[in-house]
Amino acid sequence: MEDPIETRNSNLSTSMRSYENLPNHQLDDEVVIVMVPFLAQGHLNQLLQLSCLISSSYDLPVYYVGSATHNRQALLRANALNPLDIAKIHFHDIPLPEFDSPPPDFNALNKFPLHHQPLWDASLHLREPIATFLRDISSKSRRVIVVHDSLMSYIVQDVSSLPNAESYIFNCISVITLYCSLCLFSGKSIQLGEELLKKLPPLEGALPDEVKNFMDFQSPYMDIKSGDIHNTSKVIEGEFLDLLAQVESKQQWAIGPILPTKLNNISNRNNICLEWLNKQPPRSVLYISFGTSTTFSDREVMELAMGLKQSKQKFIWVLREADRGDASTGEARRFELPERFEERVKEVGLVVREWAPQPEILAHSSTGGFMSHCGWNSCIESITMGVPIAAWPMHSDQPRNGFLVTEILKIGLTVREWEKREELVNASTIEKVVRKLMASEEGDAIRKRSEELGEAVRHSTEKGGSSQIELDSFIAHITR
Ligand SMILES: *[C@@H]1O[C@H](CO)[C@@H](O)[C@H](O)[C@H]1NC(C)=O
Ligand SMILES: *[C@@H]1O[C@H](CO)[C@@H](O)[C@H](O)[C@H]1NC(C)=O
Ligand SMILES: *[C@@H]1O[C@H](CO)[C@@H](O)[C@H](O)[C@H]1NC(C)=O
Repeated sequence: MEDPIETRNSNLSTSMRSYENLPNHQLDDEVVIVMVPFLAQGHLNQLLQLSCLISSSYDLPVYYVGSATHNRQALLRANALNPLDIAKIHFHDIPLPEFDSPPPDFNALNKFPLHHQPLWDASLHLREPIATFLRDISSKSRRVIVVHDSLMSYIVQDVSSLPNAESYIFNCISVITLYCSLCLFSGKSIQLGEELLKKLPPLEGALPDEVKNFMDFQSPYMDIKSGDIHNTSKVIEGEFLDLLAQVESKQQWAIGPILPTKLNNISNRNNICLEWLNKQPPRSVLYISFGTSTTFSDREVMELAMGLKQSKQKFIWVLREADRGDASTGEARRFELPERFEERVKEVGLVVREWAPQPEILAHSSTGGFMSHCGWNSCIESITMGVPIAAWPMHSDQPRNGFLVTEILKIGLTVREWEKREELVNASTIEKVVRKLMASEEGDAIRKRSEELGEAVRHSTEKGGSSQIELDSFIAHITR
């Protein structure tokens, strides 16, 4: 039987990244890589993927260092990774002081997950144990390479005191966001062209002061890095990578998408979403998920439910609240849906309240659209799988990611303008945008562009493709 996931990804599955492009003498077991992720799902996940990629394709030892709680969470939620690859990673658990893990405030107008603040504060205590770990490992290796989140810059600062260690920031946001922020901080003008500049969403309202303070606190240590790695591809953000190079002096590598290249070997084939998708026509299903950091109010959930129903389009809706600081604590909120909603939409839609295998859903040939908060992970996954996006950004870099998707790449539609972020998005707005994306000529044209871009992005991770070349070049650099 033809496998819908494999079919969509035949390119990917044949393109297992390997080190055959690298001269052998550059592979050196004495180079050790230490990954230090920021303690939130969207960040844990990316460095775990990078760990698997580097360890399996280049045969280098990789340590994944974090709190026991979050290391466990990363493992539990490892979508689409090969268990054999995960088994090669050395997980190093560090105890974290106890921290409060309150539920998200689902009525807050600002969607930023501020309830994680106690966790961020606790995470600062990782500095000492990580320094001890790095000292120990540096005494036993020729070189230690620390790859960390920019929000962990304070914690890994002791790299600078070790003669044989160097660090690289793995950027978890789009390069367009990074570039715009750097311009703002350094007082340079953003080179975007007048028309686009007018449409660029303002930074205003994207980050609460608490977060800005946390970032300011980290920023003195960010310059310790020897370079940056970006989870993007020249095919997606070539223009912005070039612009970034004008304002950033350290070396840059665009190695994304860091996709598990072997979706044909997934462990969750029997997942209810994938089984349901197997029964739907090609490109007919809208996938809806707002990530792990957004919680909707009851009113917003009601409007979305009504809008979906009125659109008469097929859908899979992942209905979850934002993670707590420790995602394993507390009871999940039971969202109210219109009466007998799930039963009434049974033929057209599926509501899922558990962790969903997002990359596999997006890779499935029945999926034809993604309503998304435009977190960078979700954008990259959707772009790579050739799925157009109904953009509904919530906070942080998401408004700019949405702008990239709709205005620059033109592979999506806007659900709600950033300026109207404090207004309720009503059912009729949702119905309209869903119909336009899933059942209109304009939607088909957008879908076609998405598929073409996805194809090009997947090619960039194959032998000779730009992302593969950049990754090889990064590995050659650190193993020099
Ligand atoms: C990097 O890209 C992949 C898609 O290839 C995605 O699955 C992963 O979560 C991304 N990480 C980040 C933060 O960009
Ligand atoms: C898939 O995984 C199994 C073990 O989990 C392994 O034996 C097999 O070789 C893998 N296949 C591919 C194509 O990687
Ligand atoms: C829904 O919202 C849109 C945009 O804000 C508005 O134009 C429209 O009148 C609203 N419709 C209803 C039925 O409230």
